[in-house]
Amino acid sequence: MKYPKTDYHCLVDKKVIVTGGATGIGAVIAKYFYEQGAQVFVLDILKKEANELIKLMPSTIKLKMPKFFYCDLLETDSIKNTFKDIYYQYGYLDTLCNNAADDERHNWQNISSSEWDYYQNINLKSQFFCIREFVQFVDNSKGASIICMGSISYLNGTVEIPSYSIAKSGLIGLVNTMAKILGERKIRVNLIQPGWTMTKKQLSKWVNKQARELISEKQLLKGEIYPEESARLVLFLASDQSKMITKQIINVDGGWV
Ligand SMILES: NC(=O)c1ccc[n+]([C@@H]2O[C@H](COP(=O)([O-])OP(=O)(O)OC[C@H]3O[C@@H](n4cnc5c(N)ncnc54)[C@H](O)[C@@H]3O)[C@@H](O)[C@H]2O)c1
Repeated sequence: MKYPKTDYHCLVDKKVIVTGGATGIGAVIAKYFYEQGAQVFVLDILKKEANELIKLMPSTIKLKMPKFFYCDLLETDSIKNTFKDIYYQYGYLDTLCNNAADDERHNWQNISSSEWDYYQNINLKSQFFCIREFVQFVDNSKGASIICMGSISYLNGTVEIPSYSIAKSGLIGLVNTMAKILGERKIRVNLIQPGWTMTKKQLSKWVNKQARELISEKQLLKGEIYPEESARLVLFLASDQSKMITKQIINVDGGWV
């Protein structure tokens, strides 16, 4: 599907971190920022995928090739060192998109304590520590925008990913709390909750005939949701067009919940 491009001149030269930007929705978010002339930093554990993605976004007179930083978001020291490295090499940061996640299926009756912790760490805890490191490197005279990627899964009755869904519900508390703390520094914090979004991974692993029937039954707006839908909203929330918008939750789910 072809999406009309919106130009946000205020995003030119902005320094933008996209966690989990090597694949899926994050890769499209990275590409959307690149097309605006922003300097994108992709943080991920998938080196090969990240490098292949970045090759598709060369530097030109107007555009800057994204930079890949290997960062395991399960390790708070890795988060700390990566944000510090980026700041020392490139200067103040403008936007953080907390996008990385893991929605591998797991069963509430069998899940072990360490598996539970793993899903909480990647889907909730890492977002807090990325915010805490990021805000140290924001120019206080300019402010910044933080966009967290949640999910409608804790609202729509999904039962196959309990620790993931519960972690995603915790992001509401994270966004409310951090928006309050950071508002006086002109740092905005908002939450996007996508519906079922057709990434390569979702299509190859879970979107079968039954899933398509469910989507068609539940979404008020018929048709499939692609990563571009969230990416378009991320750009808006990063831009000055939303400069008085903070502490908001926006669902990109075709009206499912
Ligand atoms: N695709 C959907 O249907 C859907 C629905 C609702 C919400 N979301 C949310 O949107 C966001 C993007 O979803 P997606 O489907 O593209 O996810 P994905 O699983 O396809 O990609 C996640 C990315 O995060 C990276 N990542 C995982 N663990 C990491 C770690 N320890 N350190 C660094 N990077 C790590 C992965 O390598 C990958 O590149 C997520 O927050 C997800 O919860 C997606």
